[in-house]
Amino acid sequence: MQDGPKRVTTNGDSERPNVARLFDYYLGGAHNFAVDRALAEESIKKFPVAEMVRTIRSFSRRVVRLCVEEMGIRQFLDLGSGIPTAGNVHEVAQSIDPSCNVVYVDHDPVAVAHARTMLRDNLNAAIVQSDIRDVGAVLRHPETRRLIDFTQPTAVLMVGILPYIVDEPAGVVARYRAALCEGSVLALTHLTKDVEPELVDHIVDLADGMESELMPRSKQDVEEFVSGLKLLEPGLVLAAHWRADGELPGTSAAADASTYGAVGII
Ligand SMILES: C[S@@+](CC[C@H](N)C(=O)[O-])C[C@H]1O[C@@H](n2cnc3c(N)ncnc32)[C@H](O)[C@@H]1O
Repeated sequence: MQDGPKRVTTNGDSERPNVARLFDYYLGGAHNFAVDRALAEESIKKFPVAEMVRTIRSFSRRVVRLCVEEMGIRQFLDLGSGIPTAGNVHEVAQSIDPSCNVVYVDHDPVAVAHARTMLRDNLNAAIVQSDIRDVGAVLRHPETRRLIDFTQPTAVLMVGILPYIVDEPAGVVARYRAALCEGSVLALTHLTKDVEPELVDHIVDLADGMESELMPRSKQDVEEFVSGLKLLEPGLVLAAHWRADGELPGTSAAADASTYGAVGII
């Protein structure tokens, strides 16, 4: 996605770093400010955050491609989407089939302002500003209703978002699952301290510094979110290893070991 004239410069708080803009920076986007870049550079001295972000994005890309190419899915609901910077869902899906519809959801006004600007010429993609925990508001939003027909197979993506849902995440996941018809997909990633607890604590501290509470979870906890679904092979594994097919970002073991990924069929 080109920035240039579409770049937002006046929306948002340029004084305080922000999770969505940090992700954007790590992904090579241009929708970030000096405060974000300074914190991003400081953080990678403690943990390979950039590699972790790219690992997550690479998982998401593989899932979207699989949905469109092999499962006939043409509708995506991306929860906690951040700024839809390089290689995001609409770019991957619409590059295969331009008729794919994508609804992004984020509660952060900064991410939403950037996304709205980036998507303004794209009739098949939209951003909804909402807390994803308000499932009814997300599902009933006019843009969701315009772009997603829940009687048809839909992919719900919860990539990098569930650790931000500190209370009752299983209930939130269950409500989205209940809205989906047979043949739909739930794809998720989740931060974990199972393998690298001390290093992952740096990520928790980083979020804390941005007034975001982040909760890594164990494999057992994450299993609850996908229980009862038919998991695509290889099941719930480190996201870096999920059908990597040589697409491994080729980064650090710590980054690869910090996030689980799974794709389940309703
Ligand atoms: C890790 S970032 C972006 C991850 C993005 N899915 C990706 O793969 O690049 C998480 C995003 O979730 C958003 N977020 C956190 N809690 C949220 C909530 N309760 N409702 C909606 N968005 C939320 C943040 O604003 C942030 O943009």
